[in-house]
Amino acid sequence: MDPKQQPQTDHHTLARDHERLQSQYAEIASLAGGLAHEIRNPLSTIALNLDLLLEDLAAGDSPRERRMLQKVATVRKQCVNLERLLNDFLQFARVGTLEQEPADLNVLVKEFIDFYQPQAKEQGIEISPHLAANLPLVNIDFRLFLQVLTNLSRNAQQAMPRGGVLELQTYTRDDRVMLDIIDTGEGMTVETQAKMFDTFFSTKQDGSGLGLPTVQKIVEVHGGTIHCDSEPGRGTRFSIQLPIATNSKR
Ligand SMILES: Nc1ncnc2c1ncn2[C@@H]1O[C@H](COP(=O)(O)OP(=O)(O)OP(=O)(O)O)[C@@H](O)[C@H]1O
Ligand SMILES: [Mg+2]
Repeated sequence: MDPKQQPQTDHHTLARDHERLQSQYAEIASLAGGLAHEIRNPLSTIALNLDLLLEDLAAGDSPRERRMLQKVATVRKQCVNLERLLNDFLQFARVGTLEQEPADLNVLVKEFIDFYQPQAKEQGIEISPHLAANLPLVNIDFRLFLQVLTNLSRNAQQAMPRGGVLELQTYTRDDRVMLDIIDTGEGMTVETQAKMFDTFFSTKQDGSGLGLPTVQKIVEVHGGTIHCDSEPGRGTRFSIQLPIATNSKR
């Protein structure tokens, strides 16, 4: 091979390739987001008309109408699934624009518990908070981190169909602030753990498989990491590590 034709691998070429990939990625992400939006409107028209059709059919009592009612109800249910998928997808695609402020993770956890407590109680789940005193502040988008807790707790709840304990811990380790979400649920096999952060990976019948990828993306755009320990039959622990806010004076 003519040495002049050898691919350049200097820093400039790498930086250019990286830039090109990034702009291609951004374009695809924005197209996908736009597509999801475009699907949402006609879908809600479809759902609305199915609701009207369901009302009409419910008024009739011939066997034919009852059969039609069942079929329309099935289609209506699929609309709900599609709507949820689109919302989850848009939520995933939106992560990136941050409104960061120094915040106390203990306040976040308490706010989350206030909102989640009634639902947890109904599902037989005991929430057990262990919050460290004098926790340094972290620079976070508070609203996005409520989403993180919501997604992780929803998974925990789904893993404990007969109830259990959901532990929420905050503490510091090696100059990082930690937030752990621990459940006493069914746990995960090694195979599931290997794929759990893949977009659209789900072991659930009606799961979008976007819950954990969204959580991971939120944590990573904050300069944090997320780690999982899980054992089938025993439960699961997700540990989130965040850098201490540089202006963390309290
Ligand atoms: N706490 C947990 N206990 C047991 N399995 C879990 C837990 N959290 C996640 N998983 C596994 O990881 C998979 C991926 O989780 P993820 O939240 O991304 O998607 P999902 O819950 O299936 O669907 P979605 O969150 O979009 O409704 C789940 O289907 C489940 O198999
Ligand atoms: Mg989930």
